Amino acid sequence: LKTMPVKLRKNWAVPETAVTPEHIYMNRRQWLQAAGFAGAGLAVIFAGGAINSAHAVIGPYPAPRNEAYVGGRALTPEDEATTYTNFYEFGSSKNIWRRAQKLTTSPWSVTIDGLVEKPQSIDAEDLLRQLGGLEERIYRHRCVEAWAMTVPWTGVALARLVAFARPTASAKYLRMETFLDPLVAPGQKQDWYPWPYVEGLTLAEATNELAFLATGIYGKPMQAQNGAPLRLVVPWKYGFKSIKSITRFTFTDQRPVSFWEQLNAKEYGFWANVNPDVSHPRWSQATERLLGSGDRVPTQIFNGYGAEVAELYSGMFPNDKRALFH
Ligand code: MTE
Repeated sequence: LKTMPVKLRKNWAVPETAVTPEHIYMNRRQWLQAAGFAGAGLAVIFAGGAINSAHAVIGPYPAPRNEAYVGGRALTPEDEATTYTNFYEFGSSKNIWRRAQKLTTSPWSVTIDGLVEKPQSIDAEDLLRQLGGLEERIYRHRCVEAWAMTVPWTGVALARLVAFARPTASAKYLRMETFLDPLVAPGQKQDWYPWPYVEGLTLAEATNELAFLATGIYGKPMQAQNGAPLRLVVPWKYGFKSIKSITRFTFTDQRPVSFWEQLNAKEYGFWANVNPDVSHPRWSQATERLLGSGDRVPTQIFNGYGAEVAELYSGMFPNDKRALFH
C-alpha cells in the first residue's frame, strides 16, 4: 500500500488568523491610551498563540513631570531605551525585548516582609493606589558596562513604599527580589546564576529623595523588558542596582548580598556608586557611551547626583574611600 503524505500542523504552529500583528496591537493600545482607557485590561493575542493581558495599570499616563529632575542631557530615543536592555532572566544579550513579552505583569503580587510592623502581600495596583499619585522624573542612567541613557521614568519615591511598610526600629536595609519563573524566563534555567535577582540598599539610601520606584517609561506604562510592573531606579549607582520586576521587599538588619555580588564580589560590590576614577577590574569607568548618539562623554562621580547623595556616605570608609564605589 501507498499512503498519501499527510501535512500535519505542528501544535506550536498558529493559524495566521489567530495572530494579531504587532503593529495592529500597538496601534490599538496607543489608541486606548489616547482615549483614556489605559487603565482597562485588554486581552491581546501575541504571536505564538499565548493569550496575555496587557498591563492594567494605575495611571494617569503621562504623569505630571517633577521639574526638580530634568536629566540635564538630551533624552535617549525611546526605541533605543526599550529595545537595548539588560534583563538576564530573559537571556544575556541586550536584544531580549520580544522574549520578555511573555511576562504577565498583571495581576502582580508584591510581598512586604521582614522587620515591619505587619508583613503583607498586596497586588501591585493596590499597592500603587496606597502610595499616592505618580510623577515623571528624567534621570541619567549609567550601566556598569559603560553605556548610559537619559530616560523619563514614571513612578513614586521609594520613600513612600518604606513609609507604607512601616519598618521597625531595628531595620537597616531594604532587600528587593525579582520574580522566579523559569518557564517564563528562560535565563532562569541557567543554574550557574543565583536566581532570583536580588538587590539591596541601606534604609538611608532607600529613603533618599532620588530613589524611585518606577511603573512607567516615556509617559507610558512600563514595558516588560524595562522591568514592569515595578522596578527600582537609583540613578547615582551603577544600573545593576536598579532591580526590575520586583516581587518582594524585605526589611532586614543584615546587609543583603546582591545577585551580581554573589556571582563576582570583586567586580560588583554592594555600594556600586558611580565614580570615573575607580575602574572596574576589567575596564575603565572614565567615560560612557550614550545610547542613541553613540557619543562618548566623561562619567561624573555619583553620576552627577552628588548634591543629593554624597552626604549619605560622609564619614564612611575613612581609610578606603574607594570601597564606596565598588
Ligand atoms: N533587574 C533584573 N531583575 N535583571 C537584570 O538582569 N539588569 C540590571 C538592571 N536591573 C537586570 C535588572 C542592569 S545591569 C541594568 S544596566 C539595568 O537593569 C538596565 O535597565 P534597562 O534595561 O531598563 O536599561
